[in-house]
Amino acid sequence: MSPAPIRLGVNIDHVATVRNARGGALPDPVRAAKIAIDAGADGITAHLREDRRHIRDEDMARLRREISKPLNFEMAATDEMVAIALHTRPHACCLVPEKRSERTTEGGLDVIAGHDHLKIVAAELKRAGIRVSLFIEPSLEALEASRSIGAPVVELHTGSWCDAVAHGEIDKANHEFGRIRVAAAQTETLGIECHAGHGLDFATAKKISGLPQIAELNIGHFLIGEAIFVGLTEAIHHMRRAMDEGRGLS
Ligand code: PXP
Repeated sequence: MSPAPIRLGVNIDHVATVRNARGGALPDPVRAAKIAIDAGADGITAHLREDRRHIRDEDMARLRREISKPLNFEMAATDEMVAIALHTRPHACCLVPEKRSERTTEGGLDVIAGHDHLKIVAAELKRAGIRVSLFIEPSLEALEASRSIGAPVVELHTGSWCDAVAHGEIDKANHEFGRIRVAAAQTETLGIECHAGHGLDFATAKKISGLPQIAELNIGHFLIGEAIFVGLTEAIHHMRRAMDEGRGLS
């Protein structure tokens, strides 16, 4: 039996970053989401940050209304974001840590210190029929805490691995990939669905697609950057091929 293909969630935050640089309506992140779906994305991911630096409230509402594939709403576990999620009713919510000063999501959620609060938030979202995932570091402690919180899905933070690869730090990259491989295998034992994302490009997406437990990758910055040169459709086709090759499907 051939392995199941990995789902590709395309994160369109940085289309909104470019739009916001001029303060107008273009480029439209919802148009990017539709093109991504036509090109083969299995879902769309968007992060509504507290400071609204890229995606805005009306983008979330339009994505929910206008796209034909599942919407994955990335958010901090705050009262404000929970209220928006309950109103928007996306297919999924991925809870992420958020600091105003950071450029992007640095590191996974502190699921141990935040355990009790995250458990309440996860239960509230689950009661509304939203699939909850937690963006965590690839460690057994974080996985066990995620299970205790009641998350059916975790997304393993691949940032440290991808940074090490990008900087040519071979030993560190091997070590970080080893942590991801072990954590992915542990999700199977714990009965948690495993996703991964952050900093992935064609080569790292291909490699991580070889881990059989990983069901979904969420990829944004690299794809939107690549789209400047080759167009979003071609960038997504190339990513799809890389993921299928990594999984042994072609
Ligand atoms: N997954 C999560 C939970 C994220 O926070 C991000 C960044 O917004 C991504 C995936 C995508 O990361 P990148 O833009 O580096 O591909």
